[in-house]
Amino acid sequence: MSDIVAGIVPAAGRGERLGPGAPKALRLLGGVPMLVHAVRNLAAARHVSLVVVAAPPEQAGEVRALLADHHAGAPLRVVAGGATRRESVRAALAALPDEVGIVLVHDAARPLAPVELVDAVAAAVCAGADAVVPGLPVTDTVKRVEGEVVVETLDRSALRAVQTPQGFRRAVLEEAHLFPDALDATDDAGLVERAGHPVVVVAGADEAFKVTRPLDLLLAEVVWSRRRPGSGR
Ligand code: C5P
Repeated sequence: MSDIVAGIVPAAGRGERLGPGAPKALRLLGGVPMLVHAVRNLAAARHVSLVVVAAPPEQAGEVRALLADHHAGAPLRVVAGGATRRESVRAALAALPDEVGIVLVHDAARPLAPVELVDAVAAAVCAGADAVVPGLPVTDTVKRVEGEVVVETLDRSALRAVQTPQGFRRAVLEEAHLFPDALDATDDAGLVERAGHPVVVVAGADEAFKVTRPLDLLLAEVVWSRRRPGSGR
């Protein structure tokens, strides 16, 4: 299996929890679509030689033009995404060249994931892991509920909030995506777990948080403005 690494960016979600407007990946952060940030961060990583974006199907042409305008630093392909995140990832997997042996899947909705995190995930797969996820300790107490009734309080010390990019041996990810599944997994590692492969956790990054709700976008604007050279902070 080759060590050539490609990034996949599922970016076809509507982002309804963010409120009305453009698809989430095309919402602006610092005047630039979130998708462009996510693609740039992947492409800037040492290991990544190609990025495939799964765009909202009716906007694939627009996304292609947008990414061409904001040169990302690695060769790019844009495919039409699907009705679910899983279908979008599958469409991007189908567009990978044969020589790619390692795949990093990175949500467009995590525009501030540091390049160092991308490198750490890729390095762990290159070192031999089948599947790698970045994870952070959970700070809230987490309870399982049924309706409005608490059923159980989970042991917080054993929980991790998992982020992207998630890294995989390509064959492992492709096999996991073939598994029939009634539920739509919310991440790719979930599919890999169900297919019976071990998934390793590496340290996540606070700045890799997912932009889901309006407050997340406000926070992302603050983080971005502090990162920019000359921000004086
Ligand atoms: O909805 P959620 O925030 O979990 O979406 C995670 C990522 O999956 C986002 O980058 C979103 O654009 C992508 N997605 C997709 N195709 C879908 C649904 C979500 O590419 N049909």
